[in-house]
Amino acid sequence: MRITVIGTGYLGATHAACMAELGFEVLGLDVDPARVVSLSQGRLPFHEPGLPELLKKHVESGRLRFTTSYQEAGAWGDVHFVGVGTPQLPGSGAADMSFVESAVLSLAQNISKDSLIVGKSTVPVGTARRLREIIRENKRPGVSVDIAWNPEFLREGFAVADTLAPDRLVIGVASPEHESVLRQVYAAAIADGVPLIATDFETAELVKVAANAFLATKISFINAFSELTEIAGGDIRTLADAIGLDERIGRRFLNAGVGFGGGCLPKDIRALQARAGELGLERSMRFLQEMDQINLRRRARVVWLSRSMLGSLSQRNIAVLGITFKPDSDDVRDSPGLDIANKLFEDGAEVTVYDPAGNANAHRRFPHLNYLGSLRDAVKNAELVLVLTEWEEFKALTPESLAALTPARKIIDGRNILEHSIWDDAGWSIGSLGRRYWPARNVPSQDAAQLEVSSGSVP
Ligand code: UDX
Repeated sequence: MRITVIGTGYLGATHAACMAELGFEVLGLDVDPARVVSLSQGRLPFHEPGLPELLKKHVESGRLRFTTSYQEAGAWGDVHFVGVGTPQLPGSGAADMSFVESAVLSLAQNISKDSLIVGKSTVPVGTARRLREIIRENKRPGVSVDIAWNPEFLREGFAVADTLAPDRLVIGVASPEHESVLRQVYAAAIADGVPLIATDFETAELVKVAANAFLATKISFINAFSELTEIAGGDIRTLADAIGLDERIGRRFLNAGVGFGGGCLPKDIRALQARAGELGLERSMRFLQEMDQINLRRRARVVWLSRSMLGSLSQRNIAVLGITFKPDSDDVRDSPGLDIANKLFEDGAEVTVYDPAGNANAHRRFPHLNYLGSLRDAVKNAELVLVLTEWEEFKALTPESLAALTPARKIIDGRNILEHSIWDDAGWSIGSLGRRYWPARNVPSQDAAQLEVSSGSVP
């Protein structure tokens, strides 16, 4: 069985390399010639642990190739996975479906042997059925082409492991034959005991958005309680530990902090609301609007806390450590850390930024910020240090190690990764999300209202 993977971003490049690792011959297709050249030379254009090695191994073995040609892919492949992006449409919460539609149309027009197209992108419910019509209307006569849906649940930073050993496989299929094709593709994982759920198109599409909506809700739930403990008193980490011990709740995804970002959760909950609205069910998913707002208010809270700790922001030196949306990634899409750094800059602060992997991508997005190549350089003249992504390098900070590098004795722990009593005892002033910082007791009402306003660059 020959496999093509259309779109070689995070999802597609990982899927292509992992399919090659499973023993298939794989052809990756991207409309970006520069990306195809880079991948063909075994160079991965983004950061993902373990993936560069896999890519190099299979490019060298000849099992994994890349092209820009739909004609080549359509003539060669038996199963065509589609993993192109569905970004948020500017000025709307809805997903931009143009890349998926164009990929499926190009495939339908170019497939010259019986094949199955398998959608992996995260899409609004109803997409697979609509694409099926596009395929029927555009495929070549005499060639059998149909569609299945197989959502991807991979997490950045764990993409290879999540693809090779997923916790479940979900496939939306229109016939037992298509189920059997996908069972062959995933035979190794199935043999290892990974559960496979075969269902209809709509359920398969919804499983993905429901999972992401649930995860976003879980994070915003604990962050809403942070808002309470910041004013009423209490410790959000202990609260999360205690409720997390209830097996029905579970501790994972209850880490309070600056909230969720990245290329999936924020856009997916907005796209789900938009789709529900189209279906006349706006109220059913309205709670997600609240989850989105809770999430964005966390960013405003860090700006507020910075101002409280420094007295004012104008021309004050602030070092921001961590601007990727999470550690072990260079992805700064909708990143809370980068959004906060930019907001502080807009409010007049002198911001220096350091991230172990995200500086280059962040520079492309906000070129006006001052990016430095090491923690040491970033904190050199700082009056306040913000830790906004939980990289190991920042988790390992101690009051003594940091005090040797910076005149600052003020720090904000945006991810609840530092042991507060140690910093307190060492004479540092430490602010955090989910614990009371003394000025918070007297938040004037206009400041409280300001916290309602989302910060900076909501895409
Ligand atoms: C997510 C889903 O986990 C994955 O299944 C889906 O396929 C794509 O979207 P990813 O975007 O890689 O994956 O990131 P994830 O690890 O889920 O984290 C999302 C965001 O939530 C990050 O910004 C992270 O810092 C934040 N987060 C996560 C918290 O703030 N608290 C938590 O407890 C967990």
